[in-house]
Amino acid sequence: MHNEELAAIAKKLVTPPKGILAIDESTETCTKRFEKLGIESTEENRRAYRELLITTPLIEQYVSGMIMVDETIRQHTKEGKPFLEILKEKGMEAGIKVDGGLEQFGNSPIEKITKGLEGLPERLREYKSLGITFAKWRAVYFIKNNLPSDELIAESTIRLVKYAKMCQEAGIVPIVEPEVLMTGEHTLEQTEKVISDVLDVLFIRLAQQNIFMPGLLLKTGMVVPGDKVEKATPEEVRDATLRCLGDYVPKNIGGVVLLSGGLDEESATIYLNALHNTGDLPWPLTFSYGRAIQNPALTLWAKDMSGVGEAQKALLERAQANSKASVGEYI
Ligand code: 13P
Repeated sequence: MHNEELAAIAKKLVTPPKGILAIDESTETCTKRFEKLGIESTEENRRAYRELLITTPLIEQYVSGMIMVDETIRQHTKEGKPFLEILKEKGMEAGIKVDGGLEQFGNSPIEKITKGLEGLPERLREYKSLGITFAKWRAVYFIKNNLPSDELIAESTIRLVKYAKMCQEAGIVPIVEPEVLMTGEHTLEQTEKVISDVLDVLFIRLAQQNIFMPGLLLKTGMVVPGDKVEKATPEEVRDATLRCLGDYVPKNIGGVVLLSGGLDEESATIYLNALHNTGDLPWPLTFSYGRAIQNPALTLWAKDMSGVGEAQKALLERAQANSKASVGEYI
């Protein structure tokens, strides 16, 4: 695989007016979300729910690709058609979350590090042969007192960059996702400082390791205050986010995609819209939302698991709203 092909995939994923739909909840996370709504988290229920999402009519007008987990890429519709085939027919790229989740970081009672590098090149080779074109690795950082620690930022960065290199060597576009969690009482200024610190170290190392920038996507949260304090205005979020990204993200990156991180659906859309209301940005920037697109659909499906129509309508509505916001046309 040559660099031009990596760049072409990255470009397709962020070409307006589309973004990415993240449906890559681990079984553990999916189980938590299902159980909150009274859905049993069986393999069949997870399959049926993912079928609903992937087969939503016209979703491909707003969504360029979907990120899935290993279980999902091997599943089929009830009629036996592979999910990967459906994505291909709809012209959407198929992505895979390849990290192995979180484990305790050193002796820290709070900090967690992402695992999963072992055997990754072999797994990537198989994914590539199945038609997967992009991948995701998520690191997380809590803001609390003096955290995140410099040690966590350093080690997480090393792993993110190793993963990115392995992906590009396998011909797969890496999404590097250092997620600074919203959970807490921190201010917008604190979030801005932490995201800046994380991006600073990350982009220095990506450059040192000769990662091919046009074949890479950054996935980050917007700069928002913690979820226990008063919300910021869309203008405040926009300005702080653009300051942060502007200082560290190189102009030749494939693109920036945003996570919703627990924001309510409307805020996630309005903030994205605000980011596109300032004129041209230096890089393509769009959504890669999970909860902010899926939540209404999942809630409706939980009420009536025998029908998918209402849930698919709700999914399409959020996807369309974010598509409009990705070009600054969401009113
Ligand atoms: P949310 O938009 O729900 O944060 O999910 C996106 C994602 O992929 C988090 O890793």
